[in-house]
Amino acid sequence: MTGKMEYLTFFNGHKMPILGLGTAHALGDDIEKAIDAALEIGYRHIDTARRYNNEAQIGRTLKKWLDSGKIKREDLFIVTKLPLTGNRAECVEKHLKQSLHDLQLDYVDLYLIHHPVGFQDVDPKDNGEEMLLDMNTDHVSLWKAMEGQVDAGRARSIGLSNFNARQVKRVWQSARIKPANLQVELHVYFQQSQLRAFCRALDITVCGYIPLGAPGVRPPGRAAITVDTSKQPKRDQMTNPVVSQIAQKHRKTNAQVLLRYVVQLGVAAIPKSTNPDRLRQNFDVFDFELSAEDMEALEQLDKGSAGRQVRAFIPEMANHPEYPFNAHY
Ligand code: A2P
Repeated sequence: MTGKMEYLTFFNGHKMPILGLGTAHALGDDIEKAIDAALEIGYRHIDTARRYNNEAQIGRTLKKWLDSGKIKREDLFIVTKLPLTGNRAECVEKHLKQSLHDLQLDYVDLYLIHHPVGFQDVDPKDNGEEMLLDMNTDHVSLWKAMEGQVDAGRARSIGLSNFNARQVKRVWQSARIKPANLQVELHVYFQQSQLRAFCRALDITVCGYIPLGAPGVRPPGRAAITVDTSKQPKRDQMTNPVVSQIAQKHRKTNAQVLLRYVVQLGVAAIPKSTNPDRLRQNFDVFDFELSAEDMEALEQLDKGSAGRQVRAFIPEMANHPEYPFNAHY
């Protein structure tokens, strides 16, 4: 890698590396090896969540690196998220403490509310694998508990994920400590231009998940994102001819062009990979620049909300009063 990492600066002065490692659906041995390889390559921003069931494995690898002295805690930027079953004020501290225990850390750099929809705090194993909606989710009281985590030193910054503009605004208006970051689906087919402009006006940075458009096959089971494949937009960003042409011109891969585009929009990107070659490739996007012409051609690939791939983790979520994705943005 010849280029230099770029950073997003939060309103509170904390800096987030603009390229991080996504870890959704990365489990077991795979994730430990991936974190090891990623740290070796130079990744310092790692994105996980209670929901991904991999914090303990990530924590083991981080501890190994921190104990060895090869890396210092202040060089890392670790993000995790409150699970959907924890979307009540009284649950926040318990869940963050558990995440910190598993990650073997004293604090996270960024703690996000994973989703505006809340579920009851019942283990699906005790309930015939059913997850029950909690229809009383209240973001304002929930946010106060999030602020308490900053006060207690367990989180340096706090933010939101999958919230729409109206929901972000409500939290922002009530906040004593403002949200520093919004993490949402964002890629060349779903560019979120209105939501980005809205966040810019509130000084909230944006991080895009599935920046490559999630070309991989989802694992089966309840952890998978449930999609109606007949209504699913094409996930062919990686083979799109416009992307290929720009990639050839810069002697880069299509994945690198897709990631560079997100970064050049001023948005953080967290591509997931457990393959060392692809990890290296995805990190190597700081030694070239897309021209204004390239940026314009890529902007034209936006399909607006028709390009959205992630809707409901489970179909019942769409019945919740805080289901976010019916709004225009
Ligand atoms: P793998 O982990 O085997 O590398 P997204 O972050 O948009 O969800 O994309 C992640 C998916 O894309 C994973 O299935 C990952 O598989 C694959 N992937 C990650 N980086 C690359 C790349 N540079 N080229 C091709 N596929 C990639």
